[in-house]
Formats: sequence, structure tokens, C-alpha cells
Amino acid sequence: MSINTSNNPVKIAGTGSYLPEKELTNKEMEAIVDTTDEWITSRTGIKSRRIAAEGQNTSDLATEAAKNALEQAGIDGADLDVIIVATITPDTLTPATACYVQHNLGAKKAVAFDVSAACSGFLFAMEVAQRMISDGNYENALIIGAEKLSAFTNWDDRNTCVLFGDGAGAAVLTRGDETTGRILATQVGSDGSQTSILNIPGGGSACPKPSRDGEGEQPYLAMQGREVFKLAVNAMKRASEAVIEEAGLDAENIKLIIPHQANLRIIDAIADRLTIPNEKVFVNLHKYGNTSAAAMAIALDEANREGKIERGDNIVMVGFGAGLTYAAAAIQW
Ligand code: UT7
Repeated sequence: MSINTSNNPVKIAGTGSYLPEKELTNKEMEAIVDTTDEWITSRTGIKSRRIAAEGQNTSDLATEAAKNALEQAGIDGADLDVIIVATITPDTLTPATACYVQHNLGAKKAVAFDVSAACSGFLFAMEVAQRMISDGNYENALIIGAEKLSAFTNWDDRNTCVLFGDGAGAAVLTRGDETTGRILATQVGSDGSQTSILNIPGGGSACPKPSRDGEGEQPYLAMQGREVFKLAVNAMKRASEAVIEEAGLDAENIKLIIPHQANLRIIDAIADRLTIPNEKVFVNLHKYGNTSAAAMAIALDEANREGKIERGDNIVMVGFGAGLTYAAAAIQW
């Protein structure tokens, strides 16, 4: 675990997101597995999710989100020094999805690489990028959370397939100053003793040729939901409290909490423990389900574009995912 506050201010200059067109509603899920809209809604808060088109890869979703963020930041791909893609569903095991994005954006001078920290990945990417900028060696960084989880979903497993969706969100980070908004505090952490409760067991070097139909390790998301739920609430509470304290904030002067969008019951539990009223908590999981590394990135962009955060507002982002990983950031917009 580490708490980091940049010496030189780093600000978010623009955000963007992209969701595939195809919607898959809970009603439509009822025809795929033995489930009901009522069960999914009451247990998770999810009503619908987006599914990438055939041939539309994680890098394609990431590129579209990136273009929106670059446009808002008022810079071109050629101005980028760093591109970091957070994903657990890369186009290929190698090269990094960020390299495809770099090419798509014509970002020739950017160093491009991926981070794998599951649902916390966007904040891990933020941590790395802000450090690179804060140290003074890089100026403009593009961080992206992008996932095509539909490609790693077991569509016969009602325990998991109703939960996930595809999408991408992005942010441009650049040098800030004391007056233009800045990242105030970040925390990232990992607990490798819990690798077995949320994972994609097949498809890595431990099981490089998994069968999608047969026995053995499968290339699908697998989760012990109840265990993850309990650990998620505790870790997200601790991570948010750490950055709130580090940034010198309190419940009163936080404008918005942007939590990872996995389950409305988890989000409500966090808000309750932080004594933050529900209207200060951003929720969009009813539209998109759990999009892992993309979720907080998409939520940040929507909150920004919907005018829910304005210059000078303090926000807190907090997430949790496979690894286990957890992360939080306090940001002055
Ligand atoms: O993003 C990374 C982090 N991930 C998370 O934070 C997810 C954390 N976990 C969760 O959100 C919840 O644990 C779930 C939504 C995954 C599950 O909710 P739950 O209240 O923990 O339900 P459960 O797994 O304990 O299952 C309760 C019942 C079971 O039936 P029995 O054994 O009680 O008869 C399941 O078989 O619900 C059944 N069930 C379903 N029923 C209808 C499980 N999935 C479904 C389904 N439709 N889709």
C-alpha cells in the first residue's frame, strides 16, 4: 500500500468515453440464462449493459474514448508523451493494447504500455501517469480504462454473465498549478493472497490452451461474489478514508464520490460508511453494468460532461478489483 501526493501539481485536462451501440437489457438476459430482471435489479442495480460488435476490439473502444478526451483537452495525439491503457481484456497478450491505441492516434512520440489491475486499473494508471508528469520528464499523458469483457464472459453462467459489459473511458493528464485543479492524493494497493476469488483462470501461461467448452481452466471471468463483496466494501472504505484525510477533505466539502460501478449495494454501503449522502455519489451502472477498468473512467467523463463537477470542486474516486487491488484518488477539479 502507498499514499502518494505529487510534488508538482498534475491536473486532468479532458475526459472522454465510448460505449458500444449494442444494448443488452435484463429482459433480453432472461432469454440467455435462468435469471430475471427482478433478481438482477434487486441484487446489483444493473438494468442493461453494452456489448462490443464483432471485430470491435478493446483498442477500438479505447481509441474512441481517447479521441473524445483529447478533443476536450485541446491537444492532438502527436502531443502525447505517455499512453497507459488499464485493461484485463487486451486485444492480444502482447503487444500491449496501448500500442494499438498509439498507432490509431498517431501518437508517435508517446511511450505506450498497459497496466493490469482489473477494476482499480484506471486509478493505477492515474498514479503512474501523475508520477511521470510530476517528476518533470513528461508533459501530457493519456490514461484509458477499456474492456471487452463480453469476450471473456461465460454466457452459460448466470452468476457472472449478468454482471459485465463493454466500454472505455479516458482522461488527459498534464502539468497543473495551484489554481487550475490538481490531483490531491492517491492510494493504490494490492492483496495477492486473494487471487483465487476473482480471476480468469484460463488463457495465461499457466493454461495457455484452454477449451471454451470442455473441462479444466476456462478463459472466462470467475468470481466468488459474496467474498468479493465483503472485501470490496472494507477496502474501498479504507482507501477513500486515506485519501480524504491526506487531501484534508471532509464529507462537507466533497462534491462527488465516483466509485467503481460493480454493484449498487456495494456503492450504497460505501456511501453509508463514509456518511456521504446518496445524491453526492455518481452511479451509472444501471446503464452499463460492471465494465471493470473502464467503469470509473466512463463515470468520470459522464459526471464531467453532465456538469456534475465544476472547476474547484473536490471529488473522490475509489475502486476495487481482481488481484485483489484497491485504489482511491482525491482530485480538485
Ligand atoms: O468488479 C470487481 C468486483 N466485483 C464485485 O464487487 C462483485 C461483488 N459481488 C456481488 O456484487 C454480488 O455478490 C453478486 C451480485 C455477484 C451476487 O449477489 P449475492 O447477493 O451475493 O448473491 P449470491 O451469489 O449469494 O447468490 C444468491 C442466490 C443463489 O441461489 P441459492 O444458492 O441461494 O439458491 C444463486 O444461485 O442467487 C442465485 N443467483 C441468481 N439467480 C437469478 C445467482 N445469479 C443469479 C441470477 N439470476 N443471475
